[in-house]
This record gives sequence, structure tokens and C-alpha cells, in this order.
Amino acid sequence: MAVRTVIRMGHPVLRGVAEPVERFDTLGLHALVEDLWDTMHASGGIGIAAPQIAVARQVVVFGLGAHGAETGRGRPAPIPPTVLVNPVIEPLADVMTDGWEACLSVPGLRGVVPRYARIRYTGFDAFGNRIEREVEDYHARVVQHECDHLDGVLYPARIRDMTTFGFDEELAVET
Ligand code: NI
Repeated sequence: MAVRTVIRMGHPVLRGVAEPVERFDTLGLHALVEDLWDTMHASGGIGIAAPQIAVARQVVVFGLGAHGAETGRGRPAPIPPTVLVNPVIEPLADVMTDGWEACLSVPGLRGVVPRYARIRYTGFDAFGNRIEREVEDYHARVVQHECDHLDGVLYPARIRDMTTFGFDEELAVET
């Protein structure tokens, strides 16, 4: 379909709460999902949320192949390509782990963000089939990051130690 413009931190749609999808398996929803995949692949990301292309709907897509990008601490386990609509996240333990994150809407930067290490997430695919998974580690991190976009939260707001937040090229010197 189309590679869409990724809006950046500061745009009001990224600060808003996204509306749930009410009708599944529609041309409009399938077109949105296709645009999200096209935009994510063109940007080299591993996930993207509808608000990042200025669509205030509860739709995210994510996935990481076996030959996916390095994340600074080795290669994480693959994440199956997933379309997740109207998601709900439930932590399965209080344990939080720190890890590096970046975002297509905050280009050039990264930072260390605490996330729940184990979660259950539920939701639907674009056809309305129910999805329920229990995941951990990097998969859990990616889902929490993407679903935060639906609540108007960008990862810099979750950084605890701001000395970890900076431009990728500068941080690459020491990490
Ligand atoms: Ni993001």
C-alpha cells in the first residue's frame, strides 16, 4: 500500500489516547495494517503503532526475524510478526528489567527503560481473532513500548536515569 510519514515527538497525536477499533475485517483496517507494515519495514523498526502515522486507533504491529537488528546486548529471540488491535497488557510479576529502547518517533536517540519482564497480552488480529500470549524479555519489552503509544506515552517519559538518554552516535562511543 504505502509508506506513511512517521510523526515525531511533539506532535499532538502522539500525546493522545487512541480509540479502540470497533469493526474488524474492514477494508479500512486492513489498509491501515498494511501501511503500518510498509512504514515499519521502510524505517527498519521492529514495531510501530497507528498513532505514529497520525491515526489515533488502537492498532500496533511488531515482529523481529531471526536476523533482526542487534540491540546492544546480543541478538534477542525472534518475535513472530503480529498485528495487535485493542490490546490489554497484564504484568505476570512485579519484576522489571532495564533495557535500551529507541523509537521511530524519537529519531537518533535511545535510552534505558525499565519494563515488566513477563507479561500476558490479549487483543485481536485485524480479522477479529482473539490473541492471548504470555511472553518475556525482549518480546515483552517491545509490546509494552508499542502499547504505550496508544496511551500517548513515549519511552523518554519512562527513563529513570536520564544519563542513559542520548543520541545513538554519541552513546555508541562508550557502550
Ligand atoms: Ni515507539
